[in-house]
Amino acid sequence: PSVGVVGIPFSKGQPRGGTEHGPALLRDYGIVERIQDLGNKVTDYGDLTLDAVEDDKPWNKVKNPRTVGQANRKVSECVSKITRDRQIALTLGGDHSIAIGSIHGHAQSCPDLVVVWIDAHADLNTPLSSDSGNIHGMPLSFIVKEMAPYTARLPGFEWCQPCISARDLIYIGLRDVDEAERAYMTECGIASYSMQEVDKYGLPDMMERVLKTVDPTGKRPIHLSFDVDAMDPEYSPSTGTPVHGGLTRREMYYIAEEIAGTGRLSCLDVVEVNPSLGTEADRKKTVRTTVDVVSHFFGKRREGNVSADFKMP
Ligand code: ARG
Ligand code: MN
Ligand code: MN
Ligand code: MN
Repeated sequence: PSVGVVGIPFSKGQPRGGTEHGPALLRDYGIVERIQDLGNKVTDYGDLTLDAVEDDKPWNKVKNPRTVGQANRKVSECVSKITRDRQIALTLGGDHSIAIGSIHGHAQSCPDLVVVWIDAHADLNTPLSSDSGNIHGMPLSFIVKEMAPYTARLPGFEWCQPCISARDLIYIGLRDVDEAERAYMTECGIASYSMQEVDKYGLPDMMERVLKTVDPTGKRPIHLSFDVDAMDPEYSPSTGTPVHGGLTRREMYYIAEEIAGTGRLSCLDVVEVNPSLGTEADRKKTVRTTVDVVSHFFGKRREGNVSADFKMP
């Protein structure tokens, strides 16, 4: 497959500096070459230039609304171009607020997409329900049509319209869901495989159900939004909001291989790697695990790979 990579050096959807260095770190650890070596044709579009908007006053509790809005407009345009050219878009975040632009842009080219959201958190708060005021905890409230009655328009987001239905979204890995988020999920009818269901069904059964639930005929493009805090902090400690009891590296390999096996991955977000958090060892662990997991989304198989130009020795 053809893959288009874009770095999104952005941290204004949450209070901790560092996620803006995620793209550089992932590149340093060879994420582009790894995908290329698996036989994919990779175009690297570099990093977006994202500026802070001056005098970006909070909207109620919500921090940096215009800065986050403007950045996401650029993300949307870029992802829309990449996916229109029939490349799989790989967005390197950045905090999870960038999924607003990424899903929005993807939906402009592929209106029938489904979203698989792998995360410890539901990221479904609205500007009205959020306790933290951090937009990385709200991206799906901008994107899901059924959330319209519960949310508010933010300055900076005039360009952004909800573009997916609640039934076209599914969660994997949840274990830290706010009360309002839980109520919205139930009210809108959003399906989820929290860690409880991961434990209950086991991965093979769960992945079958996940894909059947959002896409019973198996034809639609998949938007996979991967927050590295979905994994247990044992594997990805350098992230802003770690939660114990998460997915293992091995479970993520399984999920990634199953998604790759559909041949329908159309956009992958890799978000919330924060090189400024933890020790040097934590940073290494986080980025190595992340790059390894991403390689399985792009064709690496534990059973082994043989490249097209391999000659039998
Ligand atoms: N639910 C919390 C909030 O709304 C935490 C969100 C964490 N999100 C993330 N993308 N890591 O602030
Ligand atoms: Mn810095
Ligand atoms: Mn999260
Ligand atoms: Mn998230």
